[in-house]
Amino acid sequence: MKGIILAGGTGTRLYPLTLVTSKQLLPVYDKPMIYYPLSTLMLAGIREILIISTPDDLPNFKKLLGSGHQFGMEFSYLEQPSPDGIPQAFLLGADFIGEDDVALILGDNIHYGNGLGAVLRKAREEARSGKATIFAYFVPDPEKFGIVEFDREGRVLSIEEKPKKPTSHYCITGLYFYDHTVVGHARRLKPSKRGELEITDLNNLYLKNGDLHVKVLGRGFTWMDAGSVDTLVDAAEFVRIIEERQGIKISAPEEIAFNQKWIDKETLLEAAKRYGNSPYGDHLRRVAEGGIRYE
Ligand code: TTP
Repeated sequence: MKGIILAGGTGTRLYPLTLVTSKQLLPVYDKPMIYYPLSTLMLAGIREILIISTPDDLPNFKKLLGSGHQFGMEFSYLEQPSPDGIPQAFLLGADFIGEDDVALILGDNIHYGNGLGAVLRKAREEARSGKATIFAYFVPDPEKFGIVEFDREGRVLSIEEKPKKPTSHYCITGLYFYDHTVVGHARRLKPSKRGELEITDLNNLYLKNGDLHVKVLGRGFTWMDAGSVDTLVDAAEFVRIIEERQGIKISAPEEIAFNQKWIDKETLLEAAKRYGNSPYGDHLRRVAEGGIRYE
């Protein structure tokens, strides 16, 4: 399975923070925002990743993440000339995807919780048998999101983008697993009234074909999109609290790569050098020396 991180957009909700830089390069506490969605794809076991961003910002992503070898991975990069909608990732990434299944994550999305890796690996297996998996999370303000309606038996009835009269409190998060036919489906989409290709339309195509699985992420999980001023601060505070309480780091890609045995101790220590004597660098050195082991 391949992975795509969609890290373009205009970030208008964060102006002036994003006037001269990408939202996904802003800090979420101690690391750039894109480390979080990257970590999520890594937990799904995905090693080949395409990073899509704006022509202006793409060079900085390359500077930050390089070829991926420091994570035992392979990165490629593509420009999205203008933010014409999330499914555009599949049109731009068609050659990259080829005949493989693919997971797409939005660059400002943080998914965290015990057992997330197993949930993601299950979604990956489902894609192999032609099924799409998307994730739902309970929110207090459903009118702001894509919302899923369930029947009494928990079957999905519909998905509606920013409904005026929401039928549930379960929103769709920015993480999507599809089989390789997603490229063909994306090609058939027409722009919506706001002029964008809509991920909700794509998911409804899978739903209509009986090939959509919506996995509810329950209370044990945290999902945030760090795209507004308040959620950016919330996300930083969340990460700080978890890391301080437990003396760990969350969403450190080098550590995940080491735990998955994609890189050896020497490569981890080499990668840590880049971070100097920052707490992040110190953490990676402790991991390399076997000082920190946790699930
Ligand atoms: P949004 O937060 O909806 O859009 P935005 O980042 O432009 O921000 P704002 O609303 O403040 O103007 O996008 C969600 C994520 O998806 C974000 O990480 C950017 C990314 N994205 C793209 O890269 N290209 C696109 O065409 C769209 C629609 C989103």
